[in-house]
Order: sequence, then C-alpha cells, then structure tokens
Amino acid sequence: MFELLNPVPQDPILAMLASYREDTHPQKIDLGIGVYKNDQGDTPIMQAVQQAEALLLESETTKSYTAPAGSPLYNQRVAKLVFGENHPVLTEGRVVSAQTPGGCGALRMAAEFLRGCSSESKVWVSTPTWANHMPLLGGAGLEICMYPYYDHSNKNIQFDAMLDALSQADKGDFVLLHGCCHNPSGADLTQDQWLAVAELMARKGLIPFVDMAYQGLGSGLDEDAYGLRLLAERFPEMIAATSCSKNFGLYRERTGTLFIVAESAATAANAGSQLFSKIRSHYSMPPAHGAAIVETILGDEALNQSWQNELAQMRQRIQGLRHSLVQKIEASDIEGDFSFIQQQFGMFSFLGISPEQVEQLRQAHSIYMIDSSRMNVAGLNDQCMDYFVAALGEVLNRT
Ligand code: LMR
Repeated sequence: MFELLNPVPQDPILAMLASYREDTHPQKIDLGIGVYKNDQGDTPIMQAVQQAEALLLESETTKSYTAPAGSPLYNQRVAKLVFGENHPVLTEGRVVSAQTPGGCGALRMAAEFLRGCSSESKVWVSTPTWANHMPLLGGAGLEICMYPYYDHSNKNIQFDAMLDALSQADKGDFVLLHGCCHNPSGADLTQDQWLAVAELMARKGLIPFVDMAYQGLGSGLDEDAYGLRLLAERFPEMIAATSCSKNFGLYRERTGTLFIVAESAATAANAGSQLFSKIRSHYSMPPAHGAAIVETILGDEALNQSWQNELAQMRQRIQGLRHSLVQKIEASDIEGDFSFIQQQFGMFSFLGISPEQVEQLRQAHSIYMIDSSRMNVAGLNDQCMDYFVAALGEVLNRT
C-alpha cells in the first residue's frame, strides 16, 4: 500500500534549516527559522530556565500522568502573563486554559475545537501569514479565507483593504490576528488600528482568534498583549493561542497554551469539557517539562525578574540590530529605502528582494532566508553584519 504514496514537499521553513545545517561555508548566516540568537550566533538556554531546571531536578518527585489540560498552576500563571493580573475574564472565571505541545498544539486544538462548534464558520487569516497556519487550521477541516494585510510596495499594513475584506465576513466567522510581532512581516497594528478592528468585528459578530507567539519580543510584555487584552474585554467569546518557544527560549520543549474565553463561567466549563475530550483523542496530554520550567519561573519572584530582564535584553538587541542594519545599508552603495525595518517588530521583516535574489544570497554567499525574503533579524550579529550588507549589495547591484 505504501508504495502508492507520493512525496510531500517539506515545510519551507524547516527545509531551509536543514539546508543551512548542511552548508559548510565558514561565514554562513541563518536568517531562516524564527529562533533568537545572541551576538555569538548561539541560541543559549536562558539563565532563569537553567535555574528552574536545577530546582526541578531536586524537587520533582514523580513522572506520573498529568491531565489533558496539563498543569493547573502553569495554566493559571501563564493566563496572568497573557491577560494581565486582574483582567475581568480571569476574575469572572470565563477562561478555560490548556497547556499544549507548543503554539502549534494550541493552534491545532483551537481549530479542532472551533470545527466542533460550527461546521459553517470560516477562519480569516492575513495575507501573508505564517506558513504553518494553513495546514494547522485547514487540516482540522476549517475553511480558510484571506484578508489583505501587508502591502509589499508600501512596506506597511494595508489597513483599509483589511477592513474592507473583514466587512465581507459572515457572523460567527473567526478572525485570526497576530497578537504582536506579525509573522512574517513584522508590521503590527497600532493601538488605534486594534480599536478599529475590534469595532468592526463586534459590529459584524465576528469572533477573535489571536495567535501570540512572541509576547515580550516586540515592545514589552504588557505592550505586546494590548490587542489581545482589548479583544478579551470587548468580546463575549474569543480564542487565544500562545507559545513559550521564543520568550522563554523553550523551542524544543514544546510549551504553549490555548485559551478559550466564554460568555460565562458555566459556558466556559462546557467549552473546556469539549476541548479536553478533543485533546484526549489527539495526544492525551501535553509533555510536562517545559511547562514545569515556566511555572517555576513565574511562581518565583527572583526567577521571574531574571527572566524578564533577559527577555528585555533580547528585545533590545533585536531593536538594535534593526537599527544598525538600516544604518549599514544607508552607508553602503545599496540604493533604496530600507528604513521600514526599524519600524517593524519582533524577529521578522521582509527584506523586499525577489526570490531570485534570495536564491543568489544563498548560492553565492551561504545566507539563508525564506524565498519570500522574510528574514529573521535576530540571526544577525556584529560579526556578520558587514558580510551580510556587502553580499546584499553585490546581489542587488548585479540585478
Ligand atoms: C518561524 O516562523 O520560523 C517559527 O515560528 C518556527 C516555525 O516552527 O516555523
């Protein structure tokens, strides 16, 4: 039977990572997958994470099963981080939280849950969006519609076109919004734009579905959650998927959270029972280790402070890299305005070059980014910046 199977193309982001790892060029640069790197080009374990792991090694007494929702304490602490300490949805008991295997697990279980709620509702996603949103949501059977988001010529959000498209959505449709650090564009909604989107969605009876994978890496932990918290205040129902991959550096530990906000505590409990039954039939329960680390950090004042300080340094470093990249490009013989890179947030920006130029960077200079020219700014550092700008100049001046 298996001989009838055809090969499936690999996910473009993971395929890029595999090619980078095989490349033996001494100056190769990885600007592909969204992983934070320090000035030495390493992705170190955060200090608070190391300390929490040491504590866990001493204090953990069992590896027995947890539950489909994962650890209650992890869920409680992450909910406060995401919604804010005293957000009304928390004090009113209207949120169901489930620890999930990464942000991907949260997104897929959200899709399974939503599909179970209604077979008619569609989910609207931005053009462009993170490549894996399509299989994660579509694979659960949700119908996907697109709304325009990033305008490659203006290097900014095409906000009017976005609102126009969303005004065509039907009551009960879900709208997937990136909470912060839009992946792949780095172009985030302003506070006024969040308010306008919220107003339109409330008028049309649309349901917010926020994916927030980069909290703390844009403008700050609270600042980045502005849109999500606003929607949670204004809407009786919403979904949020979050990740600890980037802000705790727990990529391979697969630690994320799915939140379902319902109109009342009783409805939330029913929604929770549906969700937990879906989880049980998919992977039974999430892996424990990453969540235990996060729970330990968030429950300890000193560790929490150390984590927040290191996260702030990471954020400032990315902002600094954005700034120095623009300066170096301006000081080179490269023509064109790249200043938009400084106005964007988080790890990603589109460099705005063609797929052929991306390919030349890869072939001739071992510089790796996604074909769309999405680059992970955090992959740059002081050592490789000049090499990168020179290579870019060579490729742009050649074509
Ligand atoms: C990315 O967009 O590069 C990250 O979210 C990693 C991934 O899993 O794709």
